[in-house]
Amino acid sequence: MVIALLAPAVLLAGYVGSQVCRSCHPDIWLNFFRNPHFKSIASGKEPPERTGCEGCHGPGAGHVEARGGKQNIRAFSLLEPQGVLRACLDCHAREISRAAIRRSAHTLAEIVCTNCHSIHRSPVPQFLLARRQTDLCYECHAEVRAQFSLPSKHRVNEGTVKCTDCHNPHGAQAATWRMGLRPRMVEVAQANEQPCLRCHADKRGPFAFEHAAVRVDGCEACHLPHGSMNARLLRRPVVFTLCLECHNGADGFGRQGDGVRLTSASHNLADSRYQNCTGCHLRIHGSNSSPLFLR
Ligand code: HEC
Ligand code: HEC
Ligand code: HEC
Ligand code: HEC
Ligand code: HEC
Ligand code: HEC
Ligand code: HEC
Ligand code: HEC
Ligand code: HEC
Ligand code: HEC
Repeated sequence: MVIALLAPAVLLAGYVGSQVCRSCHPDIWLNFFRNPHFKSIASGKEPPERTGCEGCHGPGAGHVEARGGKQNIRAFSLLEPQGVLRACLDCHAREISRAAIRRSAHTLAEIVCTNCHSIHRSPVPQFLLARRQTDLCYECHAEVRAQFSLPSKHRVNEGTVKCTDCHNPHGAQAATWRMGLRPRMVEVAQANEQPCLRCHADKRGPFAFEHAAVRVDGCEACHLPHGSMNARLLRRPVVFTLCLECHNGADGFGRQGDGVRLTSASHNLADSRYQNCTGCHLRIHGSNSSPLFLR
């Protein structure tokens, strides 16, 4: 009897230690030393309920005594999504904010830890992902793959940029730009910034003259974040139609409802010279020398 060989204190709580699992689950054991969760065995400092196999699967005495079974151990194959979430958050609530993950679109759609992570069969070296990140996300978000194949795009398929540069799959706090609307699990970067600024730092400012559209509405007011048919990831093929979405003189009825100025009376929009707005308003993201972003 295996049980008889164990220290009484451990037995009391029904914990038998990971070595015992080895004999019947050799495939899992043999790969486990590479798993970040192996650290709890290696350190020898964790209490039994936080060590090795039983840290996730719970006390194994009953299971070992019965020489197997699913009801006598925490078998993830039998858990509801909420049960999986709870089991993992027992230890991971610190890095993963409970608040954000409970409200995230993934959790609400019952997509939980084990849909994306594979504890025992991860093919990638980092983060125990069930698949390479882009493949993982595309598996459920096929429509997004097409967006990253458009002529103007972030090179996600080529590996230059990844989904998690902009999104937090564990859920994100509400954005402070775009009036906090439609957060889409877009990760808030340091100091409540749009994640775009981590890489496009030259657009950060602060500028002496800010274009309200950039900071208040956010980059997405003019750009499509994934990909676009139009150059520079722009939402519209012709730049001036983009500007006129807001600069249409509907006083008090701009997108922000705060009266976006009409283009100057001097601008004859029938004149093709005036249609190339950014030909003159060069510093469209903000300027330190021109309130009209002319230089
Ligand atoms: C004496 C052999 C034996 C030992 C020792 C043993 N297991 Fe098992 N275990 C089995 C068998 C057989 C099954 C398959 C049960 C089934 O499919 O009904 C099983 C199933 C499981 C499952 C359920 C998998 C699922 O389908 O979700 C888990 C989890 C598990 N074992 C973990 C452990 C852990 C952790 C230990 C060490 C504490 C351990 N086992 C020790 C024989 C053993
Ligand atoms: C970090 C949590 C965690 C730890 C630690 C862990 N497991 Fe698992 N185990 C899981 C999850 C989750 C599953 C469900 C399948 C999956 O998503 O990989 C699972 C599945 C299993 C299964 C059955 C299905 C399969 O994938 O073969 C067995 C058997 C098992 N674990 C045994 C063990 C043993 C033995 C250890 C220690 C060497 C261990 N587990 C450590 C989380 C864990
Ligand atoms: C929709 C997919 C998805 C779900 C659901 C998910 N993760 Fe993740 N997780 C990822 C990806 C992708 C990464 C890698 C992030 C990166 O590359 O920066 C990651 C990273 C991690 C990391 C390491 C880095 C960090 O952020 O601390 C931990 C720990 C983690 N996840 C645990 C969990 C736990 C626990 C759950 C469930 C409560 C969970 N994950 C749910 C996709 C997911
Ligand atoms: C008993 C506590 C405990 C439980 C339960 C637990 N983990 Fe962990 N997890 C850890 C520790 C400790 C680490 C290692 C952190 C480190 O490397 O310092 C870790 C690491 C990870 C990592 C890898 C992070 C990286 O940097 O590569 C992922 C992903 C992860 N856990 C996911 C899960 C998932 C999914 C579950 C639920 C099935 C789970 N964990 C359950 C304690 C736990
Ligand atoms: C450059 C930053 C960035 C990258 C990289 C990125 N996204 Fe997004 N994504 C966003 C932003 C910003 C939104 C919000 C768009 C909106 O609401 O108009 C968004 C929206 C979404 C949506 C919501 C549906 C929609 O179209 O409104 C999904 C799903 C999505 N992204 C998945 C992904 C996946 C999967 C990847 C990786 C293959 C990815 N994203 C890479 C920035 C990014
Ligand atoms: C197992 C399937 C699955 C995987 C894997 C998955 N997602 Fe999702 N995702 C969903 C579902 C279901 C929803 C909610 C319904 C919807 O909006 O499409 C969702 C929603 C989203 C949203 C929209 C949030 C919103 O507020 O509308 C984003 C962004 C997103 N996922 C990004 C990702 C990223 C990035 C990855 C890879 C790390 C990923 N997803 C992996 C299934 C998945
Ligand atoms: C991880 C870094 C990273 C993040 C985050 C990021 N970008 Fe980019 N972005 C790039 C790189 C690299 C390129 C260059 C594209 C190429 O040629 O591969 C680029 C290109 C662009 C371009 C097109 C430039 C051109 O010359 O065609 C625009 C517009 C853009 N990004 C806007 C955004 C917006 C808006 C966001 C946030 C939703 C964002 N970026 C987030 C790295 C990033
Ligand atoms: C008011 C509309 C508008 C907003 C808001 C906006 N952009 Fe742009 N952006 C443009 C236009 C128009 C161009 C093309 C300029 C040209 O071709 O002369 C452009 C070009 C770019 C380029 C490529 C050329 C360059 O200047 O580097 C990048 C990168 C870029 N934008 C990033 C961003 C980021 C990041 C944000 C949010 C912080 C943002 N944009 C917000 C209108 C906007
Ligand atoms: C999302 C709405 C929006 C879009 C799109 C937009 N703007 Fe603006 N723009 C504003 C707001 C709001 C102000 C501040 C207006 C004010 O204070 O009356 C502003 C200010 C300006 C100013 C400074 C003049 C002034 O009245 O302070 C210029 C020049 C300007 N925008 C040019 C452009 C050009 C060129 C484009 C197209 C590339 C564009 N804008 C696109 C919202 C927008
Ligand atoms: C040929 C250069 C040129 C082009 C092209 C141009 N602008 Fe201007 N814009 C200016 C100059 C110079 C001023 C300041 C003097 C004036 O009001 O004419 C100005 C002023 C403005 C103002 C501020 C008006 C005010 O009352 O303070 C806005 C808003 C504006 N432009 C938007 C646009 C938009 C939108 C486009 C594209 C449809 C555009 N501009 C095209 C040169 C140009």
